[in-house]
Amino acid sequence: MATGHTRRTRGRPVADSESIRRNVVISSAITALGGLLFGYDTGVVSGALLFLRNDFGGLSSFQQELVTSLLLVGAAVGAAFAGRIADRIGRRLTILGTALIFVVGVLLAAFTPTFPVLLVARVVIGLAVGAASMVVPLYIGEAAPPDIRGGLVSLNQLAITIGILVSYLADYWLQGTQSWRLMFGLAVIPAVLLFVGMLFQKESPHWLVMRGRDAEAREVLARLRAPEEIEPEIAEVHRVNELEQLRTRDLLAPRLRPLVTVGVMLAVFQQITGINTVIYYAPTLLHNAGLGTNSALLANVVNGGVNVIMTIIAIRLLDRVGRRTLLLVGTVGMAVGMFVVTFSFAGGENLRGAAAVTAILGLFIYTGSFAIGLGPVFWLLISEIYPLKIRGAAMSVATIANWAANFVVTVSFLTVKNAIGGMGVFLLFGSLTLVALLYFWLKVPETKGRSLQELEEDLVR
Ligand code: BGC
Repeated sequence: MATGHTRRTRGRPVADSESIRRNVVISSAITALGGLLFGYDTGVVSGALLFLRNDFGGLSSFQQELVTSLLLVGAAVGAAFAGRIADRIGRRLTILGTALIFVVGVLLAAFTPTFPVLLVARVVIGLAVGAASMVVPLYIGEAAPPDIRGGLVSLNQLAITIGILVSYLADYWLQGTQSWRLMFGLAVIPAVLLFVGMLFQKESPHWLVMRGRDAEAREVLARLRAPEEIEPEIAEVHRVNELEQLRTRDLLAPRLRPLVTVGVMLAVFQQITGINTVIYYAPTLLHNAGLGTNSALLANVVNGGVNVIMTIIAIRLLDRVGRRTLLLVGTVGMAVGMFVVTFSFAGGENLRGAAAVTAILGLFIYTGSFAIGLGPVFWLLISEIYPLKIRGAAMSVATIANWAANFVVTVSFLTVKNAIGGMGVFLLFGSLTLVALLYFWLKVPETKGRSLQELEEDLVR
């Protein structure tokens, strides 16, 4: 086997464990720029809206909601196509195409001459965000060695949270310029970096094997695995791949349905437990509740920081403690956070003094707990639990569900809050979080430390 490996790599030195680690981390980090764009483009709009709404002759609330939520519609559509495209033309080309769409969309938004063109630009950016949100974990998951796959795939979630934090800071720093065009336009930098970075990346080894391109897969794996691991992995991927012919329509077959359901339920719970009401609306909420603009923005930036820090901790723990444990612990924390926020509204809709501090603390507990569990674990699990043959398509289904649920919550949140009050709405989120906890406890499998091929045999058969 070793001779075969050396011959096929044409005398290139075999990578040692140090450089293997470096190669996988660098490759994952470059790809995770897609996550950074996801975070930045979804987060930036909150601050940009403050200036945008005075432009184009003044925007109505509905027009502002359109600017925010059309990205989510685009993302659902992007996710719908990206999986099949990634199965057909490969993961790498799909990410390259996604980076190009990012560049086009971002430039269109920054230089838009009219409001309708801005809306088109937001849809275009959404297409790329949706595609990136699923192809990036897919690509990283297939390139990663099993023992560190959790941490590597979750670099994507870390990049999302960093993107959100950077967008808050950009909004904050660019306040003085009032330039929403610059706020939107800055995203062109990571978009170009993603494109150039991907030019130097190789195709996913599992996808190559699935296409019968073993020689190329071997070359790629030579940089990502110890020499003795390469042939067994290729053989294993072949074996599970040849066990049966799965097609996209088999997603509904009785054997696969439970796994598809788990992915969709994780997606829906990730959104209906309220994360983006906090990520997109926290400054508005705190401001409306009586906090000054500056304190509201500051609390928001700190919340973004908590999100990043807890994601880093999650990355360190996912491959040790396991996905399921972190998910369950994190979900308990989310419920506690939501109930603390609920409690802060006990004295009325206006939060003053201790009530404001309680609300902010509750938000931090909630966001930190999301970041250690449901945030990274959703994206990680959907990159792990599906058979290779339908992985792209099945991830698409879960990702569409995620963006659709995000859209529904985001467009209805302010209206629902006006109708049932702060206490009512956060109590609702807290209760939904308890339902999510019960579901996760009953249905979510542990995937730590297993190869994707082992998981395929265990979960599907
Ligand atoms: C979710 C996003 C959310 C982000 C917050 C992601 O896992 O899919 O909807 O905005 O986490 O960190």
